[in-house]
Amino acid sequence: MKMLTRKNSKIKKEVDSPGATLAKGMLSVIDIIAPSAIEVDFNHTKIGNTYFRTVFVTGYPRFVGANWLSPIINFEHSLQISMFYYPIESKGVLDDLRHKIGEMEATLRTEQEQGKAIDPAVVAALEDAKSLQEQMVKGVEKFYQFSFYINIPAANLEELVRVTKKVESTLGSIMVISKLATLQMESGFQSCMPLGLDKLLISRNMDTTSLASTFPFTSSELTANEGILYGINQHNGSLIIFDRFTLENANSIVFAKSGSGKSYLVKLEALRYLMFGTEMLIIDPENEYKTMCEAVGGDYISFSQNSVSKINPFDLAAYERGSNTLGNKVMSLHTLFKIMLGGLSPIEEAVLDRALLATYQSKGITVNPDTHNQTPPVMEDLFNLLQRAKDPVAAQLAEKMERFIHGSLSGIFDQQSNIFIKSNLTVFATRDLEDAIRPIAIFIILDFIWNRIRQMLKKRLLIVDEAWYLMQYPDSAMFLYAVAKRARKYYLGLTTISQDVEDFLSSDYGRAIVTNSSIQVLLKQSTAAIDRLQKVFYLSEGEKRLLLGAGLGEGLFFAGNNHVAIKIVAAPEEHELITTSPKEILAKQQKEQQKEEQREKELAARDQPLPKTSVTQGSSINQDNLNVPQTKPIAASVRTFSRAPSRQELATQVTAPPITPRIQKDEGIQQLEQEVEKNSQPNQQANLHGQAMPLETKPEPKNESAYS
Ligand SMILES: Nc1ncnc2c1ncn2[C@@H]1O[C@H](COP(=O)(O)OP(=O)(O)OP(=O)(O)O)[C@@H](O)[C@H]1O
Ligand SMILES: [Mg+2]
Repeated sequence: MKMLTRKNSKIKKEVDSPGATLAKGMLSVIDIIAPSAIEVDFNHTKIGNTYFRTVFVTGYPRFVGANWLSPIINFEHSLQISMFYYPIESKGVLDDLRHKIGEMEATLRTEQEQGKAIDPAVVAALEDAKSLQEQMVKGVEKFYQFSFYINIPAANLEELVRVTKKVESTLGSIMVISKLATLQMESGFQSCMPLGLDKLLISRNMDTTSLASTFPFTSSELTANEGILYGINQHNGSLIIFDRFTLENANSIVFAKSGSGKSYLVKLEALRYLMFGTEMLIIDPENEYKTMCEAVGGDYISFSQNSVSKINPFDLAAYERGSNTLGNKVMSLHTLFKIMLGGLSPIEEAVLDRALLATYQSKGITVNPDTHNQTPPVMEDLFNLLQRAKDPVAAQLAEKMERFIHGSLSGIFDQQSNIFIKSNLTVFATRDLEDAIRPIAIFIILDFIWNRIRQMLKKRLLIVDEAWYLMQYPDSAMFLYAVAKRARKYYLGLTTISQDVEDFLSSDYGRAIVTNSSIQVLLKQSTAAIDRLQKVFYLSEGEKRLLLGAGLGEGLFFAGNNHVAIKIVAAPEEHELITTSPKEILAKQQKEQQKEEQREKELAARDQPLPKTSVTQGSSINQDNLNVPQTKPIAASVRTFSRAPSRQELATQVTAPPITPRIQKDEGIQQLEQEVEKNSQPNQQANLHGQAMPLETKPEPKNESAYS
């Protein structure tokens, strides 16, 4: 009663104050943001039109890795997640821990004495408690309590039930046990508001290391201000934008099973780097870079027995004309012959060394740099010299070499070089070579490219697709490793692609190339290769599983110290240029063929003689009658031929007016045509020389005015 009176008097006082009276009639922020009603049920709250349900966590897995909460942090539905961390005084905890350890030890001893089976859960708990005790005594770990609540918003009850089930099963998949905060939904909601209020107070003991692993923002970002788009970060949907030239070296390796998108990624990267003026050099053993190369106006150099493109492995590098040029060349030729002839004995090496120097000498080339401008010898010169020598070892070498000069493998690398790297994208295709000489060809091409690279400093990427060809021989593997190691100094990024992970990683040089590559991309892997990969790349169990189950163009992207799960995406225009799907390529070819046929039909229709006119006499020359675009000058009807046009074509080219045969014309027009024909006569002669008539060669303005 007393209280009431006091309250009444307080109200009276407030009513009396004019400020309070005014405030009562005014809208406050709370009035604006507050919902019209809050309905609290057993298992949900309804605030305004939104339903909420709170879940709390009671059990955690025994061991957790970094970012173990990511499935729930990056959950597809929006959630309100609250975590409370309560530091606990170590001393009290240590006392409790000692008691607890004593209790558990007693339990175990009693069970042992009674001859009962020992409960493994108690053994595990005792182990954990002892290690925690040790860590805490040493001061390595501190003790905390941790609360974890999740509030699920939904537009209706069905959605609420569905999302709750999904949240519970997601938590279950990471071995987290959750429960509904039944009858405490209001407290649950309040605990998940950003107020720092824990109204549920359901906590669990944790040490510092475990606590640190709950930090929610661990998905690393690889979004730089410069660089190209590699793909989408699958942890958080951000973009992976990166410039490989910002790392300590610009080398990259791409490993994956066949058909999982290695070449696709590399082609995409090449197209995007091209836009920034980076020069691309590609070794393509499958002829799959052709479409892309043609689309960007690159040079596509295809090697085969009959092709015109030749590389002479005896070429001397122009860049370092110095005393050692010849010595270096001879060394590189030694490697080449080792690959070609399947190894050399020390005696053979010595004979070859002498023969190589003598071959150069026969062309006037000695260690003196001034002689290096002379035309270098070719393979046949060496072969002839070896044959002529009266030495059994030389004869043996010549015999082994013969098939490259006169035999089945001749015609590619036994003539003077006739290729130049002049465009921003050069593809060296080796598919048409026999399998036996492909590794040799790739080595020679690589050597050629490497010499050119060192001539001039430029930002370049060198792509070696199917690099396992080179890993087959220790000598070519060593060469690739040498390129990887020295590339940085020449502003070069080497991209090595291989589907044969086992072979690549079982070679010492292969592993060294991996360690010399700042960017490493692993796409879908086979179970056979994953264990070796796990060791080489220090993959976690989760990453291992991700690679085994990865879809097309999905995998892990390692850049320096960062690694993220990546999904490689291309624009439809890019996809068209880089896909190797036979189905898509066939569909594209058919489309192009149809277009071509359509075009030919149109051209044929245009070349037909004009039908007789049947228009009423005396009608004026009117633009509408002609159905010809007003701005089109007569000369625009001249076609450009990609080949030299035939006489007949040239005749129609000049004489046919730009009118479709279907148009009915009156006599006035026919007259005009004859005049046009007359005016076009001087141009015809020029055209007969095989030149398409330039558009500027318009007829006399007098005639043109009739059309325009
Ligand atoms: N990210 C992607 N998005 C869409 N399609 C892709 C993606 N990656 C690859 N593909 C498609 O998958 C197929 C195989 O890709 P790709 O040729 O790059 O495989 P690969 O790993 O280089 O195989 P191989 O080792 O046999 O050369 C192609 O048809 C390509 O179009
Ligand atoms: Mg490929």
